[in-house]
Amino acid sequence: MSDLKRAYNFNPGPGALPLEVLQQAQAELLDFKGTGMSVMEISHRSKEFEAVIQTAEADLRELMGIPSNYKIMFLQGGATLQFTMLAMNLRPAGASADYIVNGAWSKIALKEAKKLGAARAAATTEATGFNSVPESLDLDPKAAYLHFTMNETIHGVEFFTEPTPPAGVPLVCDTSSNFISRPIDVSKYAFLYAGAQKNAGPSGVTVVIARDDMLERTPENLPVMLDYKTLAASGSLHNTPPSFAIYMVGLVFQWAKRQGGLAAIEKVNREKAELLYGAIDNSGGFYRGHAVPAARSLMNVPFRLPTEELEEAFAKEAKKNNLIGLKGHRSVGGMRASIYNAVTLEGTKALVDFMADFQKKNG
Ligand SMILES: Cc1ncc(COP(=O)(O)O)c(C=O)c1O
Repeated sequence: MSDLKRAYNFNPGPGALPLEVLQQAQAELLDFKGTGMSVMEISHRSKEFEAVIQTAEADLRELMGIPSNYKIMFLQGGATLQFTMLAMNLRPAGASADYIVNGAWSKIALKEAKKLGAARAAATTEATGFNSVPESLDLDPKAAYLHFTMNETIHGVEFFTEPTPPAGVPLVCDTSSNFISRPIDVSKYAFLYAGAQKNAGPSGVTVVIARDDMLERTPENLPVMLDYKTLAASGSLHNTPPSFAIYMVGLVFQWAKRQGGLAAIEKVNREKAELLYGAIDNSGGFYRGHAVPAARSLMNVPFRLPTEELEEAFAKEAKKNNLIGLKGHRSVGGMRASIYNAVTLEGTKALVDFMADFQKKNG
């Protein structure tokens, strides 16, 4: 492995995976647990795969401290399908749902919910370019649920305190891009979901965590692949699940436990974020961050340079230096560094050093 050249990977998702996890998958690829087959080639009903999915679930429960009255599901269709599914399952006919809109993804979540019933924005920060979390909320006390996006991947805005819904209104959360990046109090949430391909594994699986009473809301006539109640009751095995992706997220959960759990992971993530935001703040305005300091994401750090030409040059030069995935989302431009769990402190330092060097040459 000595000649292995790994990129410093700042992709927003699919994003970096821990090297140890990739090496374990590689070592087990041809003969999974003595079966003489890869995990991709065995039945999802086999005892070997049963152990994979049950261990993944148990490890996630331990990592996040998920109480026993919550079910964990491993589903397909990405977080985008959850925008639709959660509205179909959790919002009774005729009821309305509240959405906090503080970035591109929550805006899409609301748009999708509106296609199937009533939904409204309880707040929006669009007027200030989605650079913060809203200060006040206009909440409907009768809402079927209150939805928020804990980390806005494109705008780099993160909630560090959960919004408080009115009494009896369940809190529903898209945690796709800050999943298992720090401890949260799951008991404050009724429902959480995350596409795995940022912090937890490859694309192809979405992790859903649902409090038991939320599953009782599923209406009778839903197509089965959209029906949480049935999917949860089957242990995510109603049909053939994305077995390789589930295996991979299971390896990532074990890796996260070996790091010391989410508190230890948060510590490193904060160190990385401080380095990077420090580099932006100390650049005398050459680099400009997007989010207001109190809402700066620990995971996605968008920033601008003085001109678009310099941004082009930055991305090009960075790539030559093995720093990959730094172009901002096509909708907002600029740069964005995604510093997910698997991005190392060393990788972050390499980026910060490159930024200083680039400014010296072009500032
Ligand atoms: C916060 C957030 N929600 C939802 C999505 C959509 O996820 P998917 O591509 O898995 O449908 C993304 C993708 O980047 C995201 O960052």
